[in-house]
Amino acid sequence: MIFRQPFFIILLERLNTMSASGFAISEYHDIKPIYQKLEKLVSLPLQHIAPQKMQEYMDFYNQKCPNSKAVYEKAQQYIPGGVQHNLAFNHPFPLAFNKADGAYLYDIDGNSYIDFLQAGGPTVLGSNYASVREKAIALINECGPSTGLLHEYEYKLAELICKHIPSVEKFRMLGSGTEAVMGALRLARIKTGKKKIIKIGGAYHGWSDQMVYDLRIPGTRFFDAKGIPFMMHWHTQAVPPNDIEGLESTLKWNQLRGGTAAVILEPLGPESGTYPVYKEFAQQARALCNKYGALLIFDEVVTAFRVGMSGAQGYFGVKPDLTIFGKVVAGGYPSAGGIGGRADLMDGLAAGLQGGKKVKVGGTMAANPLSCCAGYYTLLEIEKTNACEKAGEAGDRITRGLNGLIDKYGLPFVAYNQGSICHLEAAGTLFVKIKLLKIKSVLAEINERKKLMEEYGAAYMAEGIVTLAGSRLYCSMADTDEVVDEALNRFERVFKHVEKRN
Ligand SMILES: Cc1ncc(COP(=O)(O)O)c(C=O)c1O
Repeated sequence: MIFRQPFFIILLERLNTMSASGFAISEYHDIKPIYQKLEKLVSLPLQHIAPQKMQEYMDFYNQKCPNSKAVYEKAQQYIPGGVQHNLAFNHPFPLAFNKADGAYLYDIDGNSYIDFLQAGGPTVLGSNYASVREKAIALINECGPSTGLLHEYEYKLAELICKHIPSVEKFRMLGSGTEAVMGALRLARIKTGKKKIIKIGGAYHGWSDQMVYDLRIPGTRFFDAKGIPFMMHWHTQAVPPNDIEGLESTLKWNQLRGGTAAVILEPLGPESGTYPVYKEFAQQARALCNKYGALLIFDEVVTAFRVGMSGAQGYFGVKPDLTIFGKVVAGGYPSAGGIGGRADLMDGLAAGLQGGKKVKVGGTMAANPLSCCAGYYTLLEIEKTNACEKAGEAGDRITRGLNGLIDKYGLPFVAYNQGSICHLEAAGTLFVKIKLLKIKSVLAEINERKKLMEEYGAAYMAEGIVTLAGSRLYCSMADTDEVVDEALNRFERVFKHVEKRN
């Protein structure tokens, strides 16, 4: 029997889908006022939380988190620095978590937290999403997490990515974003026959030797490059965010010095849009790459399947030559990375034991059945639930709320977002201007501001909010209005106690 839906219900459903943009970003913010506020923030003295309130927060850790403390003490004996993951280091000591569910995390002392770290970005659906977990468990029951041989989920995931990401005709899964960037740079060099790689200052493209250059803060060049021979950066260059003229003059200069193989950029701006770029930047970079014969690489490790199913490139309507994937591509499961791009370029990657002119990539755990299965079902579910847009609405709501609180308490803090990627600057650490002639005092200021970030991170955590380094929040589909409003109450409890200094 055929059931026919009433016409007006069909129409309503059509209107609903038509009104959904599918993108997380509802409005692309003007970057000028954001930078003006950030400049003002770093021109002011540090805005500390009142000492007695801070003491209360420290008491929380000492009294309510004894099991985490014990784990950290043991971990320090066997793990350098006591944590295996950089983002896990929180002041005064890292907490140990043993349960994740949707918008919430639970530590081993039974305290609960609203989770705006979201594993560093991959879980757009929310943590530990049930239907993906069930598929992952079914796969493990059948074949275990890895075999080292071809599994059908490999092509299913690749096919899905090619369907959604406009510039991607072929996809090679790798173990991490770092590895994918390494492979893409090699590919760019053999395909163009050129050497130089231009990045945007401050951007993080993983921790491979040649990319640990001008990290986090534009102008810092070799600051983080301990243990990396100077020569490794011979062909890596950085231009400041939003400096399109600087990009063109570097491309021009490079014509005399072996040429530019690739410009690599995060489409929303370095550090996941912490340094936002004006809306036409990616388009203009595309035009310059065409003009100077360089490949354009989009690092979409954060933005692919967070900004929308077609990534930031779909949002901007700009096609890069190569795209770097990570994080969401395995839905928060291990081994998340990959390169995608035009078939003629991608066929330059070696497969099997091929050598010759092909680019070497590899990894024992790359594209294991578990990561491909989790990635495949995650993407299907994001598409089905419109998760990017929902997470983006949560990002808008929390940023609006934070700005309301910033105004209410007259604070110089800066809150801005690009959809579900939200930035909350109370310290402005990354916006300290690098002056090489005054480098000692600049480094001292960065250090002070870093400590302030940790202070805020600790306060938010004690109030039951997990952030990324006290300054970034990733929203997910699990962040309902109720969750966001509760988070705002908790932020207010911190903001109330800031000792303002002008
Ligand atoms: C933009 C960007 N590129 C590359 C990477 C490196 O990815 P992975 O941590 O998987 O090596 C990251 C990691 O945070 C990232 O944010």
